[in-house]
Amino acid sequence: MLTREENDLLTRTDRGTPGGEMMRRYWLPAALSEELPAGADAPLQIRLVGEDLVLFRDDDGRPGLLGLHCPHRGADLSYGRVEDGGLRCVYHGWLFDVSGQCRDQPGEPEGSDFCRKVRQLSYPCQELGGVIFAYLGPGEPPLLPRYEFLTVPEEQRFVSKNYQDCNYLQGSEGNIDPVHNNLLHHPNTNLEHTGVDGYQGFRGGRGPVPGLQRLDCEVTRFGLELCDTTPASPGQDNLRTYNFVMPSLTVFPGPMGGKRGYSGNWHVPIDNVSHFKYTFIFNRYEPIDRDLARRRLGLGLNPDYRLVQNKSNRYMQDRAAMKTHSYSGIQGFAAQDTWAIEGMGPIYDRTQEHLGYSDKIIVAARKQLLKAVEDVRQGKDPQHVTRDPAGNSFPDMVVWVETVPEGTDWRQFRRQVQAQMEQAAAQPAAAPVA
Ligand code: FES
Ligand SMILES: [Fe+2]
Repeated sequence: MLTREENDLLTRTDRGTPGGEMMRRYWLPAALSEELPAGADAPLQIRLVGEDLVLFRDDDGRPGLLGLHCPHRGADLSYGRVEDGGLRCVYHGWLFDVSGQCRDQPGEPEGSDFCRKVRQLSYPCQELGGVIFAYLGPGEPPLLPRYEFLTVPEEQRFVSKNYQDCNYLQGSEGNIDPVHNNLLHHPNTNLEHTGVDGYQGFRGGRGPVPGLQRLDCEVTRFGLELCDTTPASPGQDNLRTYNFVMPSLTVFPGPMGGKRGYSGNWHVPIDNVSHFKYTFIFNRYEPIDRDLARRRLGLGLNPDYRLVQNKSNRYMQDRAAMKTHSYSGIQGFAAQDTWAIEGMGPIYDRTQEHLGYSDKIIVAARKQLLKAVEDVRQGKDPQHVTRDPAGNSFPDMVVWVETVPEGTDWRQFRRQVQAQMEQAAAQPAAAPVA
């Protein structure tokens, strides 16, 4: 349970709020590259952490992110013309480059230098891994983290996003709540290879997994490393290690199981009451089957990145399926998770919750977020703001699922996996780790 003040600190991300100032210290996904293809002549209107902005590519293909309203007399720049090295307002023709500098004012007298004195609000952008990232914070931007899923060749990555009609923290906390995996998501095809999933048979109300999951976590340089242990069969446990990454990313085994690659969910505030969930899956060794990835996620999307299964159609819950094989009656991971978090309301009031053992990782993550808010208040960089290039690779972000002898120490297991991965990465023609 949080106090009302703590809940506000973590959920309010408008400019000027403590949570919003913390969130602005990180590079944030602003849009998918596919939303603004090379040569696109239509800018994209976006809203990010409560700010109304326009994203465009200049004639050289460079992404620029500007305040939505023209600094002349406030017209909407997302209707503008992309030309002459910038974005031109179609009201009186003022032109702005990606840095926000005004470059042309057709209505001003010849010889006027008014143009040089006008600068539109602008934020730095970088494009990596099929995503256009933006930095909305003060000062010199930190390094854009070079996560493995952002740096593999494009054909080895699936990336998409979907709209979620609630505060980002509800979505982010769903990723570090492993108990729901075997209940809400039952039958869980991602656990097919472990022998602990729904293929053992449907057991009704208490779900398919016998025994209690044991949860543990430890603080890392980028967030938390997490492990959940599930009894698999007599003498054997299923160990799953994954990571919470500040401020709102979680990386977990997903369909690649860690060995071939893994998945990430990154929850990015549109404003206080809605967010986009960016989803990544990558394969370290070969091209990814994007259609299969989309089907496994149940990611049926409308053109505006809203799920086809949504609140307006009750997520297409099927009560007949609940009697035979589906725990929730809602089809697919994406809609199941969206139902869970949207149903809490626009901003969940965490003074009302009752946390149990299964929420211990959520509690640990909240502590880190609150500490990050406090660090920013004190003028410090929060955790995982990276400025040293030597620290901008993440071999210690261990994501793995495996069946191991009962009683295996997960920390030792994690170190072994990391060593194995580093060895494989050092070999020129890396082969899949067995
Ligand atoms: S309002 Fe944009 S140029 Fe006048
Ligand atoms: Fe989930």
